[in-house]
Amino acid sequence: MSSPPPTVESWLSDEQSRSLANDVLDGLTKPFKELSPKHLYDARGSELFELICGLPEYYPTRTELAILRDRATAVVADTAAAELVELGAGAADKARLLLDAMHEAGTLRRYVPLDVSESVVAVAATTLADAYPGLGVHGVVGDFERHLEHVGRRDDAPRLVALLGGTIGNFPPGTRRSILRKIAGLLAPGDHLLLGTDLVKDPRVIEAAYNDSQGVTAAFNRNLLHVLNRELDADFEPEAFDHVAFYDRRHEWIEMRLRAVRPCSVLIAGLDLRVEFAAGEELRTEISAKFTRPRVGADLAAAGLALEQWHTDADGLFALAVAGRASKDGR
Ligand code: SAH
Ligand code: AVI
Repeated sequence: MSSPPPTVESWLSDEQSRSLANDVLDGLTKPFKELSPKHLYDARGSELFELICGLPEYYPTRTELAILRDRATAVVADTAAAELVELGAGAADKARLLLDAMHEAGTLRRYVPLDVSESVVAVAATTLADAYPGLGVHGVVGDFERHLEHVGRRDDAPRLVALLGGTIGNFPPGTRRSILRKIAGLLAPGDHLLLGTDLVKDPRVIEAAYNDSQGVTAAFNRNLLHVLNRELDADFEPEAFDHVAFYDRRHEWIEMRLRAVRPCSVLIAGLDLRVEFAAGEELRTEISAKFTRPRVGADLAAAGLALEQWHTDADGLFALAVAGRASKDGR
């Protein structure tokens, strides 16, 4: 069967630059400077993230892939999934394991990759439409905090919404629960969420994963400054900022920061804004929360979802949770 051509719709462009401008105005004028990690992912940031996934120290990607290799068939059998909606899809390597299992089960109908990074959506949509003849592919370039309504629905075939990689951990607890609530709005009774979470473990293992010996994570982190220079006509000198990543034991999350090695006076011409960094001052660019099963269960419950299955690796490094709507009658 020949594939229908994939469609790709973008809900960003102007709106995205406004969101960056608003985040910068807000985040860089606070006493403690901070920016959302979603701005790390321009085309270069997405490439650097792909390189991170293959680093020896970065265990989450290979561990989640191994769990999926082992359990994708069970996930598909338990959910009867016919449609896969993947939020923050990136290169969509993990989707292939789920789509293979859906194909083998004879249920495969539709794949919807959604990502804020335009370059990855176009590639994922085209590559997967080619790889799975007959599959309907609808790519959405958008923000999963704001554009979930554009996922659409073709019919009432059982839907699996996947948020993999531990991306949910990149949001603070309140935002995390509000994102999960929005995702719950995509689920009809009988639909499911597949949520990948990195688990609490020896802090040395976690810190090594975010301080790799080749400096790829440092380049990924500094890429944010290149994004600001290009998009907002700023004059950051990325090399004047050190990459810092440390595990916060109280919050059980890793933080990535950029630390000014000397006093820096930065002009963000696009916003007519000057931002001063003292020597040693830091800008927080990401948190990456680590989870336990009770923490995942509680976050899901707060979003009206119930944890149904828990798939993990033998070393307990990473977990995939399957969740459905909490109330039996679907109200
Ligand atoms: N799911 C892939 C990629 C994870 S990297 C994996 O498991 O390997 C996180 C991805 O989420 C990136 O591709 C990034 O562009 C995307 N992303 C981050 N914040 C987002 C947001 N608010 N809306 C949509 N996509 C987002
Ligand atoms: C996408 N996200 C889950 C990654 C993480 O581990 O928090 C992003 C990343 N940051 C540094 N390395 C990888």
